[in-house]
Amino acid sequence: MGIKIIGTGSYVPEKVLTNHDLEKMVDTSDEWIRTRTGISERRIASETEASSDMAFKAASRAMEMSKTKPDELDLIVVATITSDRITPSTACILQGKLKAHNAACFDLQAACTGFLYSLEVVNALMTSNPKFKKALIIGVEKLSVITDWKDRNTCVLFGDGAGAVILEKRVGKHDIGGILASKLASNGDFCELIKVPAGGSSNPTSAETVKKRQHYLSMEGQEVFKLAVNEMAKACQDVLLRAKVDISEIRWLIPHQANLRIIKAVGNKLEIPEEKVYINVHRYGNTSAASVVIALDEIVRTGKINRGDYILLTAFGAGITWGANLLRW
Ligand code: ACO
Repeated sequence: MGIKIIGTGSYVPEKVLTNHDLEKMVDTSDEWIRTRTGISERRIASETEASSDMAFKAASRAMEMSKTKPDELDLIVVATITSDRITPSTACILQGKLKAHNAACFDLQAACTGFLYSLEVVNALMTSNPKFKKALIIGVEKLSVITDWKDRNTCVLFGDGAGAVILEKRVGKHDIGGILASKLASNGDFCELIKVPAGGSSNPTSAETVKKRQHYLSMEGQEVFKLAVNEMAKACQDVLLRAKVDISEIRWLIPHQANLRIIKAVGNKLEIPEEKVYINVHRYGNTSAASVVIALDEIVRTGKINRGDYILLTAFGAGITWGANLLRW
């Protein structure tokens, strides 16, 4: 038995915001952004486009690829830090839009690691509960609404988008693969490193919090950088060891697309050839929970993956959270 990905989809908004556009908004330069982050442009959702709207488009594409009808979905999990509203969950809002009335729905918040966490949570639920045969996982973010467009330290980094996968429980003896091993980790001692300071129960929204710009994401970049490289590399080594797969057997390493220097440093630590490390950070920037799944969909849709290939996913984000999943296609 295996829990297999049978369809993928993604969606990025039409509007492109280039580094040159940002030069007109804050004291920065295309050269600084490209050399420090590898990002050239990012996508920005329209005012009327919520996370659930982007999720709907990505989900529809994954359902079309896997020929899944809405009422076949038993489970919908949305990984996001930019839910449409505090409540209800974006997963429930999406369920309504998809008319997937047989699904149990919830959101999962693990920042940039959210899609990886969701894969393992759904894998465990589908393995243990015979009712869950088909599931939809979405990674989606509208980070543009929690980005401080006056802060050059962060506004050059983020973008909007969504990715989706459909998972199915397969029982045939010829059905190789699925999710082979996962490492999920977090360390709350570092919860101040990446945060949105206001809008929650510890610091509710007030005129004061709005005035102090506390509803935007702030980050201690350098500290995050060091932790990210070490923890993502260790998480990858952990899942490879447990699944008894050598790094040389990996077809694609798909790291969270936060910064080209972080991606390259993780690749170097793992000693994996550059051409096996998937990169699209130059086009989309950091889309948090959406980044790994958008990349996965691009690989699938451009035919760069074959049955039996090993795929290694890794991510790192606020919490701090990090992890890795080893998949066999
Ligand atoms: N344009 C020009 N100069 C800038 C900019 C900018 N956009 N941003 C910062 N600078 C300046 C700083 O002010 C600083 O100037 P100073 O030396 O005079 O003080 C200088 O550039 C160097 O800044 P650093 O912070 O040292 O730059 P660094 O090389 O560390 O790059 C970056 C910053 C890109 C943020 C990097 O640290 C990084 O990518 N960190 C990891 C981010 C990450 O992975 N996040 C993942 C989780 S996000 C989530 O969970 C939603």
